[in-house]
Amino acid sequence: MSFAPYERPVRAAFVGLGRIYDLNVLAYRDNPDVEVVALVDPDPDRREERGREWPDVPTFPTAAELVASGLEIDAVEALLPTPLHTDGVVEMLDAGWHGTLPEPMWADPVRARRMLDAAKSNDRVLRVMENYVFYEPLVKLKEIVHSGAIGDVAGYHMKMVGSGRGGWEVPASSYEWQFQHMQDGRGILVFDDGWHKFATALWLFGPVREVRAWVGTTEIIPGFALDAPSTVMWEHANGIRGVWDITLAVDMYLRSDYYTNDERWEVTGRKGFARVNRCTGRGIQQPSLEVYVDGEMRSFHALDDDWASSFRDSGRHWLRWLRTGTGPMWWSGEEAEDILRLVLAAYASSGAGGIGVDPSSLS
Ligand SMILES: NC(=O)c1ccc[n+]([C@@H]2O[C@H](COP(=O)([O-])OP(=O)(O)OC[C@H]3O[C@@H](n4cnc5c(N)ncnc54)[C@H](O)[C@@H]3O)[C@@H](O)[C@H]2O)c1
Repeated sequence: MSFAPYERPVRAAFVGLGRIYDLNVLAYRDNPDVEVVALVDPDPDRREERGREWPDVPTFPTAAELVASGLEIDAVEALLPTPLHTDGVVEMLDAGWHGTLPEPMWADPVRARRMLDAAKSNDRVLRVMENYVFYEPLVKLKEIVHSGAIGDVAGYHMKMVGSGRGGWEVPASSYEWQFQHMQDGRGILVFDDGWHKFATALWLFGPVREVRAWVGTTEIIPGFALDAPSTVMWEHANGIRGVWDITLAVDMYLRSDYYTNDERWEVTGRKGFARVNRCTGRGIQQPSLEVYVDGEMRSFHALDDDWASSFRDSGRHWLRWLRTGTGPMWWSGEEAEDILRLVLAAYASSGAGGIGVDPSSLS
């Protein structure tokens, strides 16, 4: 890939102006690295609503019409429903645009490979955007753990409780494609949210050599089930073990400005532990990061623990990357394949009764 950094602001288009646009757009506001030049969505109400912020920016119902307009675009922020990722991303790469798409990349390695091949043949960059690794409490946790402050790592634990009450409005149309995705056996908790959790695992402790999982199901309303209770365990190549437990608390109210996920990360060292108490929601009201060593607890009161800020910083990182071409992309398309294999290893393990599966054995 012969990428040349841009010596001027990147000309960017949004394709998909739905729920998550509200957070991804934060990176584009007041950012000298970028100029928003087009907005695309088949829904006229979305175009009208989002277009109000960018009154001089043309809007298009389809990416094909944007291509036909001849408008010059450098990079696309593709916020498409997940089932449209493959075709939508290939279309953009074929148009000669770099692209970033949100997780999950896609549910099977063959379609993921189609996107990577399209990036390669068009000599364009494909990024799979991850926001969790830009969440300041997690960034600080990683720094503390790797500083040796809690001693050698003995293991770690992630927790996720999906609650049914609270948070922001999610349009019914978003649930329609998520439901379709679930019908394909890729649940919103283990696959979709799991993508983020596994991304943090790789980011914290590197490659994983074995995954074991038990994916459950709970019917919420007749004909509609969610993929919990579920438990996933894994061992990194360096011997560190991690566990992620997912539970549903359907009737629990959770204070949140976004989705109602109550999340925790806790790394245990030989001398103490470091724990992030929340992320998407505002469940535990203690400081978002606490570190315990030798009988003393240290609390971090001044971290930017608004989940939205992790989207802003991840997007800014991408736009800066396009201006410099250096440093990790978090994540490149190829690195995202490793996350995909990790999630798929969890399904393969669960389907085979919880046996250990080496993610690299999945092609
Ligand atoms: N990082 C995270 O934590 C996070 C959170 C939520 C969603 N996501 C991901 O973001 C993506 C979008 O999710 P969402 O919640 O915004 O969905 P959404 O359903 O709210 O929005 C999707 C938008 O895409 C538009 N659209 C449909 N077909 C299109 C096409 N062919 N071309 C252009 N636009 C089209 C729809 O009209 C809609 O406005 C999904 O892949 C989802 O997994 C990531």
